[in-house]
Amino acid sequence: MYRLDVTETFAGLSLPGHLHTQESLNFASTFQFCGSDVLLVTYPKSGTTWMQEILTLIYSDGDPRPAKTTPNWARTPWLEHIHFKELLQETEGPRLLTTHMPPQVLAASLRKAKPKVIHLVRNPKDVAVSFYHFCRMANFFPDPGSFDEFLLAFLDGTVHYGSWFEHTKGWLNCKEELDVFYITYEELHQDLEGSVERLSAFLGHPLPPGQMDSIRQHCSFVSMSNNQMVNGALIPHEIMDPSKSQFMRKGIVGDWRNHFSPLQTELFKKKFQQEMGGRCLGFMD
Ligand code: A3P
Repeated sequence: MYRLDVTETFAGLSLPGHLHTQESLNFASTFQFCGSDVLLVTYPKSGTTWMQEILTLIYSDGDPRPAKTTPNWARTPWLEHIHFKELLQETEGPRLLTTHMPPQVLAASLRKAKPKVIHLVRNPKDVAVSFYHFCRMANFFPDPGSFDEFLLAFLDGTVHYGSWFEHTKGWLNCKEELDVFYITYEELHQDLEGSVERLSAFLGHPLPPGQMDSIRQHCSFVSMSNNQMVNGALIPHEIMDPSKSQFMRKGIVGDWRNHFSPLQTELFKKKFQQEMGGRCLGFMD
């Protein structure tokens, strides 16, 4: 019933059949955006849920009620998910949408409608660590094996959702032709307030005075860890097993240092240089 062992292949990527079918993926790839849409683009484990919470709070003008009463997947639905069609509601405000798809799947429709795109990127070493622990707990992902085995698959781009490098380069290449706001997980950590100010200016939705405190409070790691609408508590344990890891796991920058051996760090560095050239250099350390 849950299709936990099913893998779908689409646009050269392997994807969990629990979340996607060929029909849902085709629906995403032919989706007609409108200019007022806001599309959050991430590679998995890059802080997607955090940004979904921030967007919810910006558009509720700091009112935490929507974030506390509606699951994130219904407030900011994933285009490519099985239930997207039902979740897509006619709202008065802009539609807040999320995707993990690479740009080639969505580019034609995005070019036409030019919705606002938020591209959130995280240090790939921390992504790999977060992804590894997620795969240990999520029974709709293949068993990741040891961290070393998972890391090699991550570097080869054979994990579900494909290569971080291809995904990131692909979206960076769209910067000129689309209306893109680029931000990193690390910037959110370093300066949440400044990041939210820049983001709300980009969205043309300035926050009412005094609401920044509400965002700071409700989007903190501790608050989100306690918010059942985002912390994985709504998902049955046979699908996501909290005894193996937590969805809101650590929420820190640099956890890779606790996982990578010197050899793995060197391997990663080589691959990063080869793939990214001079781009995203902040992630070299
Ligand atoms: P860790 O596994 O490193 O803790 P996604 O939402 O894309 O799946 O990303 C999940 C990662 O974002 C997890 O990283 C999670 O803990 C982190 N995260 C979620 N909310 C956060 C917050 N408010 N502050 C910091 N990190 C957060």
